[in-house]
Amino acid sequence: MKLSLRFLVPLILVLAVLTLASMPLVDQLTLRWFMKDLDLRASLIASTVEEPVQHLEADPDALRAYFARLILDERLFAIGYCAEGAVRPEGTSTLPATVRCAPIGEKANTSGRVVRDAHGPLLISAKPIHDAFGARASIVVVQDMSFAERRNEETRRYLFYFFVALGILISLITVVVAQLSWRGWVQGMRALLRGEGLLRPAGRTSVGELQPIADDLRALIRDLESEHRMRDDEQIAWTPKTLRDILERELRGSDVIVVSNREPFIHVRSADGSIVIQRPASGLVAAIEPIMRACSGTWIAHGSGSADREVVDAHDRVAAPGDEPGYALRRVWLAPEEEQGYYYGFANEGLWPLCHVAHVRPTFRSSDWEQYERANRRFADAVVAEARTSDPVVLVQDYHLALVPRMIRERLPDATIITFWHIPWPNPEAFAICPWRDELLDGLLGSSILGFHTQFHCNNFLDTVDRQLEARVDRETFGVSYRGERTLIKRYPISVEWPPASALAAPPVDACRAIIRARHGLPAEHALGIGIERMDYTKGLEERFRAVERMFELHPEWIGRFTFVQIAAPTRTSIEQYQAYENRVRALVGRINERFANRRAPAIVLLVAHHDADEVYEYYRSADLCFVSSLHDGMNLVAKEFVAARDDEAGVLLLSQFTGAARELPEALIVNPYDADQCAEALDLALGMSVRMQRARMRLMRALLQEFNVYRWAGRMLLDAASMRRRGRFIARGVTPLKFTRQSDPPARARVVGES
Ligand code: G6P
Repeated sequence: MKLSLRFLVPLILVLAVLTLASMPLVDQLTLRWFMKDLDLRASLIASTVEEPVQHLEADPDALRAYFARLILDERLFAIGYCAEGAVRPEGTSTLPATVRCAPIGEKANTSGRVVRDAHGPLLISAKPIHDAFGARASIVVVQDMSFAERRNEETRRYLFYFFVALGILISLITVVVAQLSWRGWVQGMRALLRGEGLLRPAGRTSVGELQPIADDLRALIRDLESEHRMRDDEQIAWTPKTLRDILERELRGSDVIVVSNREPFIHVRSADGSIVIQRPASGLVAAIEPIMRACSGTWIAHGSGSADREVVDAHDRVAAPGDEPGYALRRVWLAPEEEQGYYYGFANEGLWPLCHVAHVRPTFRSSDWEQYERANRRFADAVVAEARTSDPVVLVQDYHLALVPRMIRERLPDATIITFWHIPWPNPEAFAICPWRDELLDGLLGSSILGFHTQFHCNNFLDTVDRQLEARVDRETFGVSYRGERTLIKRYPISVEWPPASALAAPPVDACRAIIRARHGLPAEHALGIGIERMDYTKGLEERFRAVERMFELHPEWIGRFTFVQIAAPTRTSIEQYQAYENRVRALVGRINERFANRRAPAIVLLVAHHDADEVYEYYRSADLCFVSSLHDGMNLVAKEFVAARDDEAGVLLLSQFTGAARELPEALIVNPYDADQCAEALDLALGMSVRMQRARMRLMRALLQEFNVYRWAGRMLLDAASMRRRGRFIARGVTPLKFTRQSDPPARARVVGES
């Protein structure tokens, strides 16, 4: 209906204007025709009366009587005779008084003219009559023109009706044609987009000739929609649902496979013989677990628990515990010598100290390298086995699996491989220490995207590649072209889930304060500091305790009024460096506690034991301050977890300047852990900080975490992956974006650099 009106209204308007505009033209035209006819008639009358008039010209009465008979014709209004030299014609009484005899001659204009008097319009024509010597007199014929006006009126009316009828007819035809063509066009487009109808000849199943165009058109529409959605990730509220939507819409429901060394839950046989589930102390696990719950994919990890083998199915899979729809964990088994060489040896005695500036020398052994390669191959095999399509989205985690991206790429060339390096990347000089540096870089550059927490680490990586490999490093788009492929090197600062499930489940802050103080036999209003880490030399535990000691020296009023509780989860305990570190830490705590021995409370409580997330959150919520003193850390999620746990907006965070988190949380008290005096003053400042100031700082930090939560971290990577896939499709179709038309860019496979 709307469509018909859209055609009809303008059409009717055009016809109306045409009709009105044409009326005067029609008037003029018909008038001219009538005048011409009447003038001819006048000539005919003149020639008919010429002879009788010559006989009667001598007898005016007879002439008038003759003329009077003539005007019985209703159109002949008057007739007169102009003798040579006469001024006024001799004629019927109806002859208008204004009619005068014109000069007579061959050249005289004999065509009629119209005059209007009381009788209406009259046409006056003067026609010469001739004798042997030429024209010598004239006949004046006056004809009634009113009939012409009547006819004109009628013509106009007919014309009007004609145009109206014509308009209606044209409108009807137009509407019918428009309706038919619109419907046909829409159906045609739909069919085109479905790749049917016009494209596919009836009864044939083969793809029509226009199919490629339809596919391109369909892809283009989808891509435009996606680009539009992606442009504004600030507008997106990042939740588990957002991630699911991205997978569904942007990645067409692709498989998501996560592969990491550490598993998200460990089945352990406890002392009483039952099997219990333990959540490992790992920032990586804390971050990836909510993502996997949202995406319901498959998580491949090393089955390291004492009862892990007992709970898996025939395919080494076990479902994530919990009521919500979860994900599947596929366990990879490693022989003891593999675990020793790959995990303890190459990963944690070699790469871990290599990447952290923590003044512990890395140790590289060729036997460890062999196991590292072998174990990486096992993980890559598991990814290939778990992939249900040829182009899954694979999220490879951390320094344990640096060779996995290349190994997957070789077997699943169309996979989108997003590798995230959770620890720092050192400068090129430091990295050059590693005897297998080229192999590691080659492995990582099998990724489509390689992510780090900070831009600084991205830059270090690019510098390292520049120094080590025959590769093209593009510092404008942060891409590396290597072996005909490009890898995007990008910063994705990891974060925590928001709102944090454990914080929501924890008792109110007052209850947590009471529970924890009671647990450690501390007075109700005792000031409490908290540190929660693995027992790892990168975490700066010695520096932290020396700072507490210095605070007591500088501000002795806190002795017996302040206790620092340190939870240190045992980790990598078979590595000598870790054993030595634990011993040093224990000894230091013993010495400090002895020095500030006080009947009311100890200076430091060291809990070397595994704590579940719920217990950890209780500690976060009970504390007046949290001290993160890492000597070097990719991000440090403890800092973010503490902030997330404090929905009372109280508590102070002391944060090492050598963590990735320090770049995002400047409202914390940022300290240099090597500077004991500075840290001691920061502790004192935190303990004396007004509630108002605590709130102001905490609010800003919580707002940041709310906005930049872990769903956004994963979502940004998935969106970038989706964008790369789209560009890949363009290249595969031969539609190369201008940006990538340089000679040196890879023509073959579609893995290109994208920016956010
Ligand atoms: C760091 C690493 C993780 C690792 C975690 C715990 O956060 O980046 O990959 O899982 O430490 O270490 P663990 O050796 O116990 O897995």
